[in-house]
Amino acid sequence: MHAVFGHPVAHSRSPRIHALFGAQTGIGVRYEAIDAAPARFAQALAAFAARGGRGANVTLPLKEDAFALCRSASPRARRAGAVNTLVRADGGWHGDNTDGAGLVRDLSARHGLDLRDRRVLLLGAGGAARGVAPALLDAGIGALWIANRTAARADALADALGDPARVQARGWDALPGLGGFDLLVNATAATRGGALPALPMALVAPHSAAVDLGYGTDAAPFLAWARAAGCAQALDGLGMLVEQAAESFQCWHGVRPDTDPVYADLRRLTDTQPTSD
Ligand code: ATR
Repeated sequence: MHAVFGHPVAHSRSPRIHALFGAQTGIGVRYEAIDAAPARFAQALAAFAARGGRGANVTLPLKEDAFALCRSASPRARRAGAVNTLVRADGGWHGDNTDGAGLVRDLSARHGLDLRDRRVLLLGAGGAARGVAPALLDAGIGALWIANRTAARADALADALGDPARVQARGWDALPGLGGFDLLVNATAATRGGALPALPMALVAPHSAAVDLGYGTDAAPFLAWARAAGCAQALDGLGMLVEQAAESFQCWHGVRPDTDPVYADLRRLTDTQPTSD
């Protein structure tokens, strides 16, 4: 039995994704959505294990809590300090983080972006940003600029990444002086918690690609800005969502599903029901 934990979680696409993966691979999948406020998460996870839970996805705002609850964690989860995939092992939880690999796979394999030597702007320095930054560096980007409303948090993420030759941190007010980027990644929770602050058009060059880690209504403001600023590609996080799920599915079942038909299904669903989880 598998599940996704989040708060809220009712609109999560993960149960649908894993049901489709199961149907495609012939693997019997029981996958439920469990709403757990942070204060109740440890208890809910223990109850799930007692009911026979073998693995789980973890979404907002529980990824750092999940990391803290793990007995062991993969190197990429340790670098992120956050876990989106739990695997039951020897009476405890092993944590992994498939978000960054999911983003890189979506950008490169689905959308044909060559990330090597690219100049990348990461907006935000919270849990979502921490989840994807290591994988972007591992994909061979040339420079990572982290810009965050709270500059100290950008500094802390840059320090944690431990790659001073490629990583720079700035406060949001430094954005006008940073020049153009090949890839802009919105990892802020701005549209969930309020308005997206104004972004200078000078961040964009004609060949730039922009990606928002959210989808549906969450991604709409940043993607509208990216199109208006002239980005060649403006992508939402739906592909990342499917790819991180496929990596989780592989962790649990040892089989990597074909993500293209599931991505097409979710794209149809999101175009008709744009509210995201
Ligand atoms: P998540 O797990 O979604 O990343 P988080 O860890 O709470 O959530 O981080 C939220 C991120 O969105 C942070 O980078 C936050 O900036 P601060 O560190 O300055 O709080 C950013 N964010 C949230 N609301 C924002 C807003 N209105 N404008 C700019 N950045 C915002």
